[in-house]
Amino acid sequence: MNPADLGELAADIAREAGELAQRRRTEGVSLAATKSTLADIVTEADREVERLIRERLQTERPDDGFLGEETGAQHGTSGLTWVVDPIDGTVNYAYGIGAYAVSVAVVEGEPDPEQWHGVAGAVSAPVLGELFTAARGEGAWLDGIRLTVSDGNPAGALLATGFGYDPTTHDGDLAMVRRIMPIARDLRRMGSAAIDLSYVAAGRLDGFFERGLKPWDFAAGAILVQEAGGAVSRLEIENARPMVVAGGPAVHDRLRALVEGQV
Ligand code: IPD
Repeated sequence: MNPADLGELAADIAREAGELAQRRRTEGVSLAATKSTLADIVTEADREVERLIRERLQTERPDDGFLGEETGAQHGTSGLTWVVDPIDGTVNYAYGIGAYAVSVAVVEGEPDPEQWHGVAGAVSAPVLGELFTAARGEGAWLDGIRLTVSDGNPAGALLATGFGYDPTTHDGDLAMVRRIMPIARDLRRMGSAAIDLSYVAAGRLDGFFERGLKPWDFAAGAILVQEAGGAVSRLEIENARPMVVAGGPAVHDRLRALVEGQV
């Protein structure tokens, strides 16, 4: 399958999974467990949606690997791995806030963001009624419209961030916010990194940064941003979890410099 066909499959699976998540939402959410911290939760729907995605991929792409938020990794033999977050924004989902998404990506190489190359991705936000898709060399799309990142000026950029589940990173997160606010137009914390990155691809946000994201939180979103003409970096900072930075080229470079402490 070429990237375009893989992108169509990712989109089809994300759409179906999003519909299931939303059906379960209207039936009432049951919290299955609190994971690492109070903010790190899983619902029965996260597990059921991941099962659906995994089973579809086992049928349609039996030789590919899989890495999912809820069920972990399974190696494949094809060189491709699907990286899946069944519900990105689980806290929003559990509280009835519509900013959540199913994120489905397929990458080449090891399921390690330092080593993989994104091939295709889809982010379905069922409550928002939006399905973002991208495939390598084919661009990023929303409802038949090709997406382009904003050419936003770093001074006055509309940015988004998130606060990871590891409380030891929060001082660093807040220090970063303090450095960025004086140059930003405003800052959003929407609660779904997949939606944040989709919005960067669509030019609705000028940039995004968050420390401690897991591969499934940003795999599809990163492909969307790159195919929409933007840049994504994962920066290793001494004594801290890596930070994902994304945006149009100018905003990305400014955020990157801020993270690296150069400005
Ligand atoms: C979370 C969301 C949130 C971000 C967290 C993620 P999850 O994903 O993307 O916006 O701030 O760091 O873990 O746990 O709901 O899939």
